[in-house]
Amino acid sequence: MEEELKKERKKVILSGIQPTGIFTLGNYIGAVRHWGLMQEEYQCAYFVADLHSLTVRQEPAELRRRTLEAFALLLACGVDPEKSLVFVQSHVCNHAELSWILSCYSPFGALSRMTQFKDKAAKHADNVNAGLFTYPALMAADILLYQPDYVPVGEDQRQHLEFTRDVVEHFNGIYGNVFRMPEAYIAKTGARIMSLQEPTKKMSKSDTNPNAFITILDDPKVIVSKFRRAVTDSETEVCFREGKDGINNLMSIYSAVTGMSFEQIEHDFEGKGYGDFKAEVGSAVAEKLRPIREKFAELMADRSYLEQQCKIGAEKAAEISARTLLKVKKKIGLLLP
Ligand code: TYM
Repeated sequence: MEEELKKERKKVILSGIQPTGIFTLGNYIGAVRHWGLMQEEYQCAYFVADLHSLTVRQEPAELRRRTLEAFALLLACGVDPEKSLVFVQSHVCNHAELSWILSCYSPFGALSRMTQFKDKAAKHADNVNAGLFTYPALMAADILLYQPDYVPVGEDQRQHLEFTRDVVEHFNGIYGNVFRMPEAYIAKTGARIMSLQEPTKKMSKSDTNPNAFITILDDPKVIVSKFRRAVTDSETEVCFREGKDGINNLMSIYSAVTGMSFEQIEHDFEGKGYGDFKAEVGSAVAEKLRPIREKFAELMADRSYLEQQCKIGAEKAAEISARTLLKVKKKIGLLLP
């Protein structure tokens, strides 16, 4: 009987996104677009990682506004609160609590090797804080509290997932089978969408050049014009090849939004110039994002619905995560109240 129950357990998915701005096309293609699609097959949990955003100085009113917007964006991108658990990280204090515990199982050396830490420390040299350094321990806590099988993320989060897996191995090695070993779920195409202006750099919402990234709420005209200005190369052939970073990026984007393979794209654009291709990518992206923009506007007009969903999500998340936290506390020897 127990075996049968085990077999019936739906695989669990968990992922999060920071509310540091409107999601970019990179966030969407690399991560969020998969989240809604996974709801049918898996038991999913998605959250707005507001505590992670505190590692960089935020304007308080703006962070508050963006957090609710990020919650609405998740729903607009297809996450359905009737099917998935959706919540705001700081509403569930278990994350911060397990994070402290796991930071005591996080080797200093491993934390110092995190490329995101090194990048952000260089970028915000005036604010290299302890939170920036222990960020992966919080991320491990986010994940392990819900015992997921898979964590769908973009390529840039792979190292943090590896870190989490090392924590599991270390912790379970001492205390037995406490945490399920999570696996990164990284799509073959689109897991690293590049800047439209510097295609060797990741597309990021904190880029100072607004032409470098598309946000999923950009106006269709703006989208088309940003693609028209996208940096490519001095050749003319639309094909996926090493060294053609700009075109490779546009092909990955086009493939993600249309479902076409690289071969089909190369075939369709044979003999056509980059201008035609860029125009087509721009309009395909604008069209793909249209329903998201519309749904977002609708959701933002009903603040009380959003707040109510945040509350329901937080209550459920607190209940689920409390089980893991209690197990951890018992194992490590904390006196229970
Ligand atoms: P964040 O908010 O930077 O990004 C959210 C998701 O978008 C992916 N992504 C990209 N994918 C493809 N191309 C890009 N240019 C691109 N930029 C971003 C990211 O890989 C990510 O999947 N630390 C996380 C949030 C987090 C989290 C977690 C994720 C906190 N706790 C637990 C999973 C599980 C972050 O800052 O993602």
